[in-house]
Amino acid sequence: MELNPFAHEFHEDPHPTYRWLREHAPLYRNDELGFYALSRYADVRDASLDWATYSSAEGTTVERLDPAWFVERPMMIFMDPTRHDRLRALVSRTFTPRRIAGLEPFVRTTVVRLLGRLAADGGGDFVKDFSAPLPMEVIFTLLGVPDADRRQLRVWMDHSLERDRDTPTVPARALEAMAHLMEYWQQFLVELRRQPNDGLIAGLLETEIDGERLTEGEIIGFCSLLGAAGNETVTKLLAGACVQLARHADQWASLVADPALIPSAVEEALRYTSPSQYQGRMVTKDVTWHGTRVARGTRILLLTGAANRDERVFPDPDRFDVRRHPNEHLALGVGVHFCLGAALARLESRVSLEELTRHFPRYAVDESRCVRVHMSNVQGFESVPFAAR
Ligand code: HEM
Repeated sequence: MELNPFAHEFHEDPHPTYRWLREHAPLYRNDELGFYALSRYADVRDASLDWATYSSAEGTTVERLDPAWFVERPMMIFMDPTRHDRLRALVSRTFTPRRIAGLEPFVRTTVVRLLGRLAADGGGDFVKDFSAPLPMEVIFTLLGVPDADRRQLRVWMDHSLERDRDTPTVPARALEAMAHLMEYWQQFLVELRRQPNDGLIAGLLETEIDGERLTEGEIIGFCSLLGAAGNETVTKLLAGACVQLARHADQWASLVADPALIPSAVEEALRYTSPSQYQGRMVTKDVTWHGTRVARGTRILLLTGAANRDERVFPDPDRFDVRRHPNEHLALGVGVHFCLGAALARLESRVSLEELTRHFPRYAVDESRCVRVHMSNVQGFESVPFAAR
């Protein structure tokens, strides 16, 4: 059995591979791509918590980015403490639970506007018409990005994450898109300094702790990080939930009848679909897993997608169950890098499902026409045709 995160067949259904890994190769080695992988829940969790041994400083995907990239636009997700903690503390000054909770009316208005159009047409493409534009509107509003620039930015963000079949080489179109994004954010800061708005980035330009401010590179890194982390994952989560809930019409009917179940359905969609499939790390000292030594300096993947289906923790793990309890999944990470946007992701997902139960109390997905994305660690659909029934 081979684990190749770039294989299109693997994207179709990674779970037979994951099941085999958990059972037969809990420490797996891919010689060709040069990585190890952990797949059991306890192993993924323990390694995630031990940031000193499992470093994020050289990136968190199989493919390696040019180290110059990390210098030009430092991102907290690619840092270890204490550098990471300083950046996270500064950003948390403006990215507050209050600011996020305050977004609910805007999120609901946007959801209702997008779903209203789809309901009038009797359906459409759940991703293109709903789950892609929604988080984009939310993040760009949070950051204070002008309306006119949003569509182009989203295209660049999508391209920057695309990967070719079977290979870890970052394609030229992705590198080009990254460069465009960087230029855009630079210009965006110039404009904001000239004319501040009430967005989060204008706030970050002013934020300080003990007289210390974020550098321009750090703010640009943060814009890029939120653009990527906050858009793609929510898009994939909602689309995955839409497909699963169409497959399980009885569970969808329960949500329509009792919307109080929705938060638990969101957690199950996170566990079951795991939009972020793995977190890559670099081991900083020799370690031993399941009797095998992993040498310092080696890349190791923490397979969140596999951990979230570990039969040692989740009874009947391949069953989608909106009532699952307990459900301590790792889909939002664990430890120092626990998802900064978790509250926002949960808010967007809850409001979306609440409004979906009202606009589409009965619907069907045409799975024969669903299309998957081909990215490195983000998994899910780029097209989900669906219609009211
Ligand atoms: C369903 C949606 C989401 C999923 C599945 C998800 C998943 C994750 C995961 C697994 C991590 C940990 C990465 C690691 O350990 O290396 C993470 C970190 C992060 N996420 Fe999310 N995320 C989601 C939504 C969001 C949103 C909406 C935002 C922002 C608005 C966001 C911003 C971030 C940031 C900034 C980090 C880095 C935190 C740090 O390094 O301290 N995420 N996310």
